Amino acid sequence: MNKLKYFSGLILLQFVVIPSLFSQVDAQLEARIQQEISQMSLKEKVGQTCQITLDALLKTDASGKVLEPAQLDEVKLKEALVDFQIGSILNVSSHTLQLKEWQTILGQIHQFYKTKKVKTPILYGADAIHGMNYTVGATLFPQEIGLAATWNPALAEQFGKITAYELRASGIPWNFSPVMDLGRQPLWSRFFETMGEDPYLSSSLGKRIIAGYQGTNLNSPYSTVSCLKHYVGYSFPLTGRDRTPAWIPEKYMQELFLPPFEATVKAGALSVMVNSGEVNGIPGHINYHLLTEVLKGEWNFQGFAVSDWEDILMLESVHRTAINHKEAIIQALNAGLDMSMVPLSPQYKEYCRLLLDAMNEKRISESRLNDAVARILRVKMKLGLYEKQVYDSKNYPLFGSIQHKNAAKEAALESITLLKNNSILPLKKGSSVLVAGPTSDNLIYLNGAWTHTWQGMDSSYNTKGCKTIAQAIQAFNGPATKFAKGAQLSLKEGWEHCEQVESADYKNKLAQCDVVVLCLGELPATEKPGDIRSLDLPAAQLALAEAAFAAKKPVVLVLLEGRPRIIRSIVDQSAAILQAYLPGDYGAEAIADILFGNYNPSGKLPYSYPKYSGVIEHYDLKRSEARSGKTNQFDAYDPEWDFGFGLSYTSFAYSNLKISKNELKQNDSIQVSVTVTNTGKIDGKEVVQLYLTDDIASSTTFGKRLKGFEKIALKAGEAKTINFVISEKDLMFANFMNKMVTESGSFTIKINELTTNFNYSK
Ligand code: BGC
Repeated sequence: MNKLKYFSGLILLQFVVIPSLFSQVDAQLEARIQQEISQMSLKEKVGQTCQITLDALLKTDASGKVLEPAQLDEVKLKEALVDFQIGSILNVSSHTLQLKEWQTILGQIHQFYKTKKVKTPILYGADAIHGMNYTVGATLFPQEIGLAATWNPALAEQFGKITAYELRASGIPWNFSPVMDLGRQPLWSRFFETMGEDPYLSSSLGKRIIAGYQGTNLNSPYSTVSCLKHYVGYSFPLTGRDRTPAWIPEKYMQELFLPPFEATVKAGALSVMVNSGEVNGIPGHINYHLLTEVLKGEWNFQGFAVSDWEDILMLESVHRTAINHKEAIIQALNAGLDMSMVPLSPQYKEYCRLLLDAMNEKRISESRLNDAVARILRVKMKLGLYEKQVYDSKNYPLFGSIQHKNAAKEAALESITLLKNNSILPLKKGSSVLVAGPTSDNLIYLNGAWTHTWQGMDSSYNTKGCKTIAQAIQAFNGPATKFAKGAQLSLKEGWEHCEQVESADYKNKLAQCDVVVLCLGELPATEKPGDIRSLDLPAAQLALAEAAFAAKKPVVLVLLEGRPRIIRSIVDQSAAILQAYLPGDYGAEAIADILFGNYNPSGKLPYSYPKYSGVIEHYDLKRSEARSGKTNQFDAYDPEWDFGFGLSYTSFAYSNLKISKNELKQNDSIQVSVTVTNTGKIDGKEVVQLYLTDDIASSTTFGKRLKGFEKIALKAGEAKTINFVISEKDLMFANFMNKMVTESGSFTIKINELTTNFNYSK
């Protein structure tokens, strides 16, 4: 079949999909959208699908460099908004702006709509992925991987709500977040932007982030539209390098990668950003099946699909599915893309002209374009942009407030995961502590990328008043605290690099201290600049631990890393290990609180931490993966730490696992209960996790799957009974026809070390 025939077939199919969408939405709103569209010229409609970056509108010097401070160029602005009628603008120039700068910029932009120079208000979007990381003084939370390690949906919602508030305070109503990609490829530079390897955990938290972002009413000055990223399969590149091909059989699309997107679309998310890479040989941006049939058809998605950065152009320049820019536009729009993040100038002008040509030549049907525009206008109307575009930032007194900072610190405290403790922790206040290591002395290592700048590497924008780990420990522990860096992270020819620095100073101070808090980890990085060649932590970092072992000093490792790096050689000899992920601006205070026992750790790993760089395993491994050729048993699974693992300063005991019945019938459910007791001497929080195994199935199923969890607080000596419900949907798997089904048979429930069984029959 030639491509032209294929695409004209697609055009017909759109008539089938669209009516079912309209039948379920607000009739008045739909009538208003249609009325609006009926009065738009083709050129105006084309403009609505075009998104440009703020840089394309700023004043530059003679060499093309953006002037500081950022100022809109009236000529460029008029050209984009009036001549090309563009519909959306994104992000920031090179770094964070002040609230008042945002206010001025957005005020100037929206003036065009207010004074009726354009018919449609602009939809402005930004990557506020761990707080409004592009506004000076905003509240910066842990990155998504840390949020996931809290296993606390209420905190996820609180994060969403505060971020939406601070984004709106900056004048922006659209957030390119959350990332719903699964973190199952730890080499990938954006692992930290995910909520880990499990679809149930990621869906549960994702739904609550969206509740926080969007609220119950989008037309509120505190709500923002969320954007699910990056639909779908982007996070699982075979090579580990960003934007390289993923191979994902349909079975695992159904069981792993699609569910987090489906759950959050059904929770009401109103935009998705498309996978910039390719899955099974089809670039995300031309995947008609995923965009039109699944997302808009099966899931009845009411919002719009925006491309990722320059991705229509990439169809020509990288993926080579299109012979030129125009064919690329035709392919993407016909596959179901609604908005193109073009986003540079003059490329956006070419995009608008070429899309107009394609429309005039009927290569894309007007109904397809109308559908794309209707989806975009629906979001603009729901947000109330036609009535009010920017609110005065003075009306957001809680922006960057103590209340918001406390919430960010609470998230950091609940995320930090104690992986090992030979009883050295908590440390005594006033101990002779050496704080060392390359990640101990700068906020950039706590925040990672997407912080003040895209890569988050420029410390000159660090939030004033926030502490580094060395400063936070010193503030807590007092003058007995010493500091030596020992090693320095940098980029060498574009790749991560670490070298030892001030080694004599490190060794001297080692000799004088009673304990070393050694902070290791990664440089901030994301997307292609964050590609690495091995998961092994650079040798110069491991050497700092080895020097401390040689000096017979107890080592407390603190890991500041976006992805799990291999530390096997220093685990056994370390006295304690804390995984801090990328805990944000208040992460250092949270680390100090945990080290000195001011807070009892309760984070749990949202991924399986690998022991060997060549063996990537997940907790839900199949029986064949567990089979060992060495022992002849099913004990080959050997991560450094398991998914869901995390210690506490207290201990918990599990008892009384009970189920309401042993036989589950169709359309029915089973109640499961278990008692958890805090058997230690201090109060603590525990994450009760329920796993389910399908004992025998017609195609292989995962060894066990997370199907319920609850984070509870228990006082010393206190016991609580926790209830879960298992229903038929929890038993589903993709059969050999790749259909999600249930099959009769026996199932095992596991909570902690307790197990029980039930039978399911149809
Ligand atoms: C990233 C997206 C991001 C977009 C806008 C892209 O390069 O892949 O996650 O939302 O840029 O900044």
